Amino acid sequence: MRTLTVPAIRARKVRDGGDPLVMVTAYDAPGARQAHAAGVDLVLVGDTLAMVVLGYEDTLGVTIDDMAHHVGAVHRGLVASDAEGPRPLLVGDMPWMSYHTTVDEAVRNAATLVRAGAQCVKLEGGRKRVPVIEAIVDAEIPVMGHLGLTPQSVHAMGGFKVQGRQYDAALTLRDEAKALAAAGCFAIVLEGVPDGVARLVTEALDVPTIGIGAGRDCDGQVLVYHDLLGFEDRMRPKFVRRYAELGAAAVEAMAAYAADVRAGRFPADDESYHLSAEVAESLALYGAAGPSDR
Ligand code: KIV
Repeated sequence: MRTLTVPAIRARKVRDGGDPLVMVTAYDAPGARQAHAAGVDLVLVGDTLAMVVLGYEDTLGVTIDDMAHHVGAVHRGLVASDAEGPRPLLVGDMPWMSYHTTVDEAVRNAATLVRAGAQCVKLEGGRKRVPVIEAIVDAEIPVMGHLGLTPQSVHAMGGFKVQGRQYDAALTLRDEAKALAAAGCFAIVLEGVPDGVARLVTEALDVPTIGIGAGRDCDGQVLVYHDLLGFEDRMRPKFVRRYAELGAAAVEAMAAYAADVRAGRFPADDESYHLSAEVAESLALYGAAGPSDR
């Protein structure tokens, strides 16, 4: 099975004739198999795990062990997948506080995700992350950057707010992106920035940009599994396009099951296992009143 590699993804610049990159998040083995069957290029085990799977308010609740647990599940799903086409590149997201203390700890944590099955890691932040990025790349682990609305900085940003709206902020974002690329990032996620800023950054870089809430001029797009499929209905940012309403379909299916159980319609005869005639007859003979010492 051919796997999409980091060099292949790095070369996918739309202005150089590359097809736009398609990335989706996944958190478990079934999601991974679906993503492969759908033909996506990259699967991100995002720290959105915290919100869409584990029920936290923001992404700050997940640990490196949580992430490794889910990276392992997604890796096993991709390995077991019998879908045709190249296997997507598996990106493991480094959670908050896994790369914020020492460079050594960051490298060790990146290695934990690789040992769980990731082929590269993603981390948030600009120029101040350069030493960490260089050290991880030096350990032969490819790094994807993440700029703009970086959810791990929710408190520092004062909420989930679109970034880079002003002239100076836009140029700073472009320069931060250039610093990440120079430090060795093979691709950069741009989240929650005006489309003009994403265009500016995309034009300034030789590595691909992958947008979420960043307009159509990036070299690729990423959406969260639960948003794309309509499982997440508590909030709906404007950049989310829902391609299905599986949350509503799941509720409808479970309600139908509950109604069938309560009405005695489930299970049906052909959904039950049956005794042979001989055993059934013996049981009928000895039945509930039969020999109790057997
Ligand atoms: O954690 C995540 O799912 C992400 C994407 C939104 C890019 O970082």
